[in-house]
Amino acid sequence: MCKPDFFTVVYKINPWMEPAKPTDTAKAVAQWQSLYDTYVSLGHTVHLIDPIDGLPDMVYTANGGFVIGNVAYGASFTYPQRQPEGPAFMDWFRENDFEVREPQEINEGEGDFLLVGDVILAGTGFRSASNSHAEIALIYGREVVSLTLTNPSFYHLDTAIAVLDPLTGDADANIAYLPSAFDAPSLAILQERYPDAILVSEEDASILGLNSISDGYNVVIAKRAVGFEKQLRERGYNPIGVDLSELLLGGGGVKCCTLELRR
Ligand code: ARG
Repeated sequence: MCKPDFFTVVYKINPWMEPAKPTDTAKAVAQWQSLYDTYVSLGHTVHLIDPIDGLPDMVYTANGGFVIGNVAYGASFTYPQRQPEGPAFMDWFRENDFEVREPQEINEGEGDFLLVGDVILAGTGFRSASNSHAEIALIYGREVVSLTLTNPSFYHLDTAIAVLDPLTGDADANIAYLPSAFDAPSLAILQERYPDAILVSEEDASILGLNSISDGYNVVIAKRAVGFEKQLRERGYNPIGVDLSELLLGGGGVKCCTLELRR
């Protein structure tokens, strides 16, 4: 995670961002701290990367790369405003003994790559280039399923899909998703692969309710996503609501603020 000491909205690279609207950095830090504390209370170890002045979106660490085992695939950001974050995260990975694969293709890390069981679901349409899907497949030697996003409000895959069962290799791993965020061929793939998926309402998705982190039982979600919360409970999960309203002003939620290190 990255403490949002320099969080603000001064440019607009997604429909959520309104540079004219004031942000409250202290409030963002306090809300971020509640997410951090939630992870610690669940027994997770949280590593921190130092925030950099002038990179207000660095709090959304999910975009900083993708990790399986000791191999970190670096990010190469779409917009110039975030491009310096790519090398900053790669430096962090190297300092923490990960083997870094420098990206040749535009990709925004875990924002668009989700590990579900043995498969990597890979998003494209707004940010990560489809060529990055071939690149990540070569790096990890896993099946990569390309999915095309069509609604600009759900510009990263992790805003439209929640991974509910994160265990690597889990053949029954399930997901939750927003059907209307995908083009028809992608939706058909999701329906076929995940017949038991939780289909989330527009209402819950529109506060980035899907942007969540699960350990297979505890699912950390946006507090206001009450419909999704109920659906999760019905399926035997334990939803835990966290309020990240200030960070939503930058277009990110729980998952965006979290990069999973599967070492
Ligand atoms: N303002 C950031 C951007 O537009 C938000 C990133 C949200 N991250 C995510 N994983 N969806 O790039």
